[in-house]
Parts: sequence; structure tokens; C-alpha cells
Amino acid sequence: MSLEPFVMSLPRVLPAWVSQVSMYLEELDDATANAIALPSAYLMATPERQRAYRVGRVCASRALEQIGVRGAMPAVHENGGPAWPNGTVGSITHAMSLVAAAVAARRQCCGLGIDIEPITSLEKAHSLASRGATTGEVFGVMENLQVDYATAVALILAAKHSLYKCLHPQVGRSFSYLDASIENVQGSTARFRARLKVMLSPAWVGGTIVTGQFDIAGDFVHTGIAIPC
Ligand SMILES: CC(C)(COP(=O)(O)OP(=O)(O)OC[C@H]1O[C@@H](n2cnc3c(N)ncnc32)[C@H](O)[C@@H]1OP(=O)(O)O)[C@@H](O)C(=O)NCCC(=O)NCCS
Repeated sequence: MSLEPFVMSLPRVLPAWVSQVSMYLEELDDATANAIALPSAYLMATPERQRAYRVGRVCASRALEQIGVRGAMPAVHENGGPAWPNGTVGSITHAMSLVAAAVAARRQCCGLGIDIEPITSLEKAHSLASRGATTGEVFGVMENLQVDYATAVALILAAKHSLYKCLHPQVGRSFSYLDASIENVQGSTARFRARLKVMLSPAWVGGTIVTGQFDIAGDFVHTGIAIPC
């Protein structure tokens, strides 16, 4: 199976030691896409979701190649996330036509999470914020970055999804949007802090802070969290 070409590059929101590969959904030829078997959970999904799964796997495979793991493609873990090959950690995201995967060696990285969120209409942002962000979080981001409401909500959700993808495989349990808060979002460093508000595991207690990176590019917010070992 050919995994070429890869011509797109999304903003980097991860340290240089993390391998990241991005593609547009349309970029993958049908023959290559159709050669990737769909897990049963995706057989009834829309064609767009099936393609997103497949392009995410191709990005993941290419990112694995870049750290020396050849011919591997993550299956689906029982937690719904990718089942990364032994010795690796990674994360996949897709938003509209953008798809990205990031991978690192487990000896270097204990957890990895990336996310892309579209900046929505104000009405949709209000609806998303009612489930996923507090007023304090939203106004904190608006003030710090001088961005509008919808951009602030997209950033907070992307940061929380990155945190979830990073920590869920480690803690082995679900946690909700209000179990962490996004704070200290700084434009000068393009970094944010995610603070746990509950204990997720003995190693991940309430009050723990992890740092992530963000980029606002066009109509999308990109976030990444990489926890070095
Ligand atoms: C799972 C979730 C984080 C995915 O984020 P999203 O922005 O909706 O969607 P994205 O396209 O960016 O990411 C989808 C990818 O996430 C990955 N993913 C799904 N479940 C995962 C898990 N438990 N652990 C790690 N990665 C996971 C998968 O790779 C999936 O793509 P794939 O099915 O094609 O492989 C989100 O849908 C969700 O359920 N959130 C609720 C829980 C939460 O975020 N809590 C916040 C805590 S502060």
C-alpha cells in the first residue's frame, strides 16, 4: 500500500520530538482508502466518517514510520481510541476535511493528545459551551487572547479533547468536560494549562496541571498536549 503523497502541513502544537502527519480528507486516493478495513463500529457510519477513520489511520501509519515503526496501523482499542503498537503512544483528530495524527516513542512520552475544532457560529458556540466550558473559562480566554466568544469556546473544547485523548488511555476511565478547567491561556507563548478538578487515578489527582500548546489558524483551533516521561 502506498502512503504517498503527503503535501499538507497543519500548525505544529507539539514538541519537535513528536512525529505529526496531516492530510486533507480528499487527498487520499480511493484505492488506498478502500484497502483499509473498517472496524465493525464504523460499518454503518456515514461515508465521510468512514473516510475520516481511514485517513486518520494513514496519517498514523505515516507518523509511526517517521519514528521507525514500519508497516503498522493502529486498530481500535476497546476504549474507542486507537490501539497503538507496543512502545508507542499517539493521537488522531479530524475536523471537517482536516485530519492529523501524532505519534511518539513511549520511552519519551507518557501521553499524547491532539485535537482540531472548527470555530463555529455564535449560536452553536453557546450550545457547545453550555456542555463543555464554564463562563469563567470562556471569558478568561477572550480577555487573554482578545478573541471572540466562538473562538474561545473552540479553543477550550479542543484543549479538553486533547486532554481526554492524552489521559483516558492512562487512567482507564471517562471524565467529563467539567472535570478539568482550561486556564492561563497565553498568546505570547501559545500555551495553555489544563487543571484536573477531580482525581482520575492515583497518579492523576485533583489539582494536577498539564501544559498544552495551541494555534488559531483560519477557521480552526489546533491543540496538543504531550507529557514527557
Ligand atoms: C473522544 C473525543 C475526545 C474525540 O474528540 P472529537 O473532537 O469529538 O473528535 P476528533 O475527530 O478530534 O477525534 C476523534 C478521534 O479521537 C480518538 N479517540 C476516541 N476515543 C478515544 C479515547 N478514549 N482515547 C484516546 N483517543 C480517542 C480516535 O482516534 C478518534 O478517531 P477515529 O475513531 O477515527 O480513530 C470526544 O468526542 C469526546 O467524547 N469527548 C467527551 C469526553 C471529554 O472530552 N471530556 C473532557 C475532559 S476535560
